[in-house]
Amino acid sequence: MNVLFVSWEMDPFLKRGGLGDVASSLPAALSTLGVEVRVIMPYYKAIKLHQSRKTKIGNLTLAYDRKKERIEIFTIRHPTSAISVYLLQNSTFFDVPKPPDTFPFFNSVIISIIKQKILDWRPDIIHCNDHHTGLIPLLLKEEKIPMKTLLTIHNLLYQGSIPLGVFTKMGYPHLSSKVSKWEGSSETSRMLAEGIIHTDIVTTVSPTYAREITTTEYGMGLDEILRGKEGRLFGILNGIQNHWKNNRYVKIPTLPDWEEVKRKNKLFLQRKLKLKVGNAIPLLAFIGRFDPNQKGIEILYEMLQGSNRDDYQMIVLGSGNIQWVDRFQWLSTFYPKTIATRLTFDTILAHQIYGGADFILIPSRFEPCGLIQMSAMEFGALPIAHKTGGLADSIRDGFNGFLFENYSAKSLENTVSKAINIWKNHRKSYETMVQNALQTDFSWEKSAGKYRELYEKLLSGTF
Ligand code: GLC
Repeated sequence: MNVLFVSWEMDPFLKRGGLGDVASSLPAALSTLGVEVRVIMPYYKAIKLHQSRKTKIGNLTLAYDRKKERIEIFTIRHPTSAISVYLLQNSTFFDVPKPPDTFPFFNSVIISIIKQKILDWRPDIIHCNDHHTGLIPLLLKEEKIPMKTLLTIHNLLYQGSIPLGVFTKMGYPHLSSKVSKWEGSSETSRMLAEGIIHTDIVTTVSPTYAREITTTEYGMGLDEILRGKEGRLFGILNGIQNHWKNNRYVKIPTLPDWEEVKRKNKLFLQRKLKLKVGNAIPLLAFIGRFDPNQKGIEILYEMLQGSNRDDYQMIVLGSGNIQWVDRFQWLSTFYPKTIATRLTFDTILAHQIYGGADFILIPSRFEPCGLIQMSAMEFGALPIAHKTGGLADSIRDGFNGFLFENYSAKSLENTVSKAINIWKNHRKSYETMVQNALQTDFSWEKSAGKYRELYEKLLSGTF
């Protein structure tokens, strides 16, 4: 079974978010289950090849916006999984992303590659990911290419709005009157909506999020078309790949002596971030993007402002929205002994935090899957999270972490207090919880098997 996995990012070549991790680890897991997966992505200037050697395998010319564009196709092996990856080079649209054309052009190039049989390999299924790939199912239909598609939604918030003129640029002018129009002016469409409508199967990255997105509260305006996909919408929880097991930057707490390792990590971390050093106070942390729509930073901020700052220390590691960066910066200058902030993207520090913190706060308003809670548990830090999406599916309240139901600073604070109380006064329960967290299995195997089942159903004509 041949699957072409389409993504705009893939770790370690290019990673901007969770999709980068999934595009690296899911194909690897699928290939161990006997699925022949290859990945295709644009060859951005920002891509780092990590000593892998690229080989040119072909080129094509494609008209876009009445100009002839030349695309060179390279292949490269993923440094850890050896999965084959196709890189598409084009100086107009792929050196740096150029909205709104880069992704429609990317989709158009993929269709041409298949139509012209440029690869020495033919996929049975195209596995699309997020709005960047949303036009592929529609274009396949348009070209009458009988190839099955599966679209995975990693985040419904980003929908890829495109002006209808893009269809003319791609050479399909008649489509601009056919596709679903979204804005009041009817001049735009959304790539993700087109993907959902035309694909054979939609998946998202946790069962709870799959249910949530069919409601008006979480559907981001697409709930109605998602409800229309009943029977073809599935939630499969992401896994994580433990490629940090052999790192030099942090010792990973493991059974049976996790407590000693965590204590040392914690003292190291407090020293590194110039917090008061000592083990008598619980160390909390937030790691993530400062995205006020999703990540719950406003309730985190409200809690930090209003709570009793003598009973915990807090580390905030994140970047993004500049106003929020300023606010958190201000908090840490005001409370330097309690709150340490590092306003950047730093994976090494992130792992040192997982290794040394007692609790990781994940107050996300919504979270399709979330990888932070899994990494936290893997490093023996208990997650304290909003009960939504993949957080609800991977954390068992009181067993390997804490969940709060109402999305508010008050609920977050109450749950933090509960966790601190257990940490201080019910040491045995806390230890059992960490042991449970350390033993929770987030490997990809189970989830990859579920994708393979869906691929098999697609090919057997069930959908
Ligand atoms: C997006 C989602 C996140 C998910 C990741 C990988 O970044 O926001 O919840 O874990 O994609 O699927």
